[in-house]
Amino acid sequence: MSILEELHALRAEGLGAISAASELTALDAVRVAYLGKKGSLTGVLRGLAGLSADERPAVGKASNEVRDALEAAIEKRRAALSATALASRLIAEAVDVTLPGRRRAPGHQHLIERVTREIVEIFAGIGYRVAEGPECELDYYNFTALNTPQDHPARNASDTFYVEDLSGDVAAVAGESDVMLRTQTSPVQVRVMEKTTPPIYILSPGKVYRRDVADPSHLPQFTQIEGLVVDEGITFGDLKGTLEHFAHEMFGPSRKVRLRPHFFPFTEPSAEVDVSCHVCDGAGCRMCKQSGWLEVLGCGMVDPNVFGYVGIDPELYSGFAFGMGAERIAALKYGVPDLRHFVESDMRFLRQF
Ligand code: DAH
Repeated sequence: MSILEELHALRAEGLGAISAASELTALDAVRVAYLGKKGSLTGVLRGLAGLSADERPAVGKASNEVRDALEAAIEKRRAALSATALASRLIAEAVDVTLPGRRRAPGHQHLIERVTREIVEIFAGIGYRVAEGPECELDYYNFTALNTPQDHPARNASDTFYVEDLSGDVAAVAGESDVMLRTQTSPVQVRVMEKTTPPIYILSPGKVYRRDVADPSHLPQFTQIEGLVVDEGITFGDLKGTLEHFAHEMFGPSRKVRLRPHFFPFTEPSAEVDVSCHVCDGAGCRMCKQSGWLEVLGCGMVDPNVFGYVGIDPELYSGFAFGMGAERIAALKYGVPDLRHFVESDMRFLRQF
């Protein structure tokens, strides 16, 4: 084969390889194979040295043409492959804006939060304001100033979560510390009365803690809502009327209220309050254990001893207080048989409300 024929064949072969290259890397390999330092065309040109002076110009020209042709074909192919690569990347990375979005499941208030707010609203409607206090409380507020005797069982380490005094003065031994997780929201009464001249109309919702094992009617942590009224001439009749209003708003306008004598250290007299069962209207059912009544809260007239601790003159003022558990009210209102459902975070239960 003459060198011109060789060049001709090389050109045809090279152009074929170029159009066969389906990716940019393959195309680059073709370029090296033909035009690179050790490439085929370079190899042919080396043979130029052995040619006569007559032949050289024609072969030189032909080889330049082959090189130009291959280079032009490579550039063209490169442009085409780059365009395809870009197009397929755009397809692969495309976002289909017509697809429906992924919905975020909206949350909603936990039933206990809702019932707590509902209770607050009822009392806000008759002029009470919300007062809050610390969940980590001093013995003085949780017990002593609430007229609780030193030997009262609620003070036992088996009933109350004592915590270490952060000043480090008192050992973290249960029962020897003055600091505890409050067992009731009643200490907020004391904190408010200490700082406020009557009239006082407050409601204090919040978490309370007791060393109880969770069972259908007990939780070691629950929500209590305390109410306190101190004003001139407040009577037991005011207390009863207030609780009737609450029962009607919470459980329905035809509810009846019954008070049973009871004992609390901080009130005298004290009572437990029942509301006629809203499920059977007092006839007796599973909800009210056939009694027709549901026990909803504790209450009483503020004990003059408590006024003594906070410097309010019991000759001038009188007051009443009451306390209820939001979990219990919610369970009664919605027929929940076990308080533990409220804290187990089972969405099948919670979504119902
Ligand atoms: N603190 C009481 C308890 O946890 C509830 C209570 C009863 C609060 C009577 C009161 C009250 O303010 O007057 O059992």
